[in-house]
Amino acid sequence: MTQRAKTGITGLDEMLNGGFLPGSAVLVEGAPGTGKTTLGIQFLYNGATLYDEPGLLISFEEFPYALYRDAESHGWDLHKLEDENKLRVIFTSPQVFLSSLQSPVSPLNRTILEWDVRRIVLDSVTHFTRLTRNPKELRDIYTMVINGLKREGITSVLTSEGKTLGLRASEQSRLAFVVDAILLMRYVEIESAMQRAMIVLKMRGSEHAKEIRCFEIRQGGIFITDKFEGREGLLTGSPRRIMMDAGVR
Ligand SMILES: Nc1ncnc2c1ncn2[C@@H]1O[C@H](COP(=O)(O)OP(=O)(O)OP(=O)(O)O)[C@@H](O)[C@H]1O
Ligand SMILES: [Mg+2]
Repeated sequence: MTQRAKTGITGLDEMLNGGFLPGSAVLVEGAPGTGKTTLGIQFLYNGATLYDEPGLLISFEEFPYALYRDAESHGWDLHKLEDENKLRVIFTSPQVFLSSLQSPVSPLNRTILEWDVRRIVLDSVTHFTRLTRNPKELRDIYTMVINGLKREGITSVLTSEGKTLGLRASEQSRLAFVVDAILLMRYVEIESAMQRAMIVLKMRGSEHAKEIRCFEIRQGGIFITDKFEGREGLLTGSPRRIMMDAGVR
């Protein structure tokens, strides 16, 4: 079996049958605050510290100080990894990123080659929708980005706020066709409490868990916990307990 790109996230590698396939593009989709950036940073941090895989974090949105501060709150010292040439955080715009990706001599491409970068996180690809209103052009942009990232067998995580599972065929959903794997992160309301849920929706070329799992975000990042036993409708937004017997509701 090929060596997987392990996330190092408790429970997630098991859901992924060992980790992401190396060289694959993974879409991590969820509403604001579901934990997409946390998952991305944790993937890079663990890659750099546990698996000897240098990474790049391309951020289109957060203010630098907020990103470092949030990482710090989990115990991840990103400055230290940058000093050790194991991680680089780049704050840029979708336009600049696209042109850097296409130019062999750009600092981005030089870093990828010189450091032998193995992992890239793009946070978030939703910003590419600002570049064009034409769905075909947007799909071409996504394809260009994904092919650009795959060149050196790099494993990439692309975060997105769009609804892949939505009813309307939105522009975002086009992305679902060009990526190799999709992870959904969702809020679910159960008995008046908000819980976090994750599911592997697709994973080309690999077995993966099919069930919806709960997760927590606490110091140290994301921790996958239990299955949502005996519930249905979780992803459609109206979870209800499956009738087990006449006395249970
Ligand atoms: N140190 C921490 N301890 C506990 N929970 C935390 C910690 N840091 C972040 N969180 C939780 O994680 C959530 C934010 O996660 P994150 O920024 O990864 O979400 P996101 O999906 O990237 O959001 P957005 O779409 O707004 O970028 C916070 O709302 C908070 O609930
Ligand atoms: Mg975020």
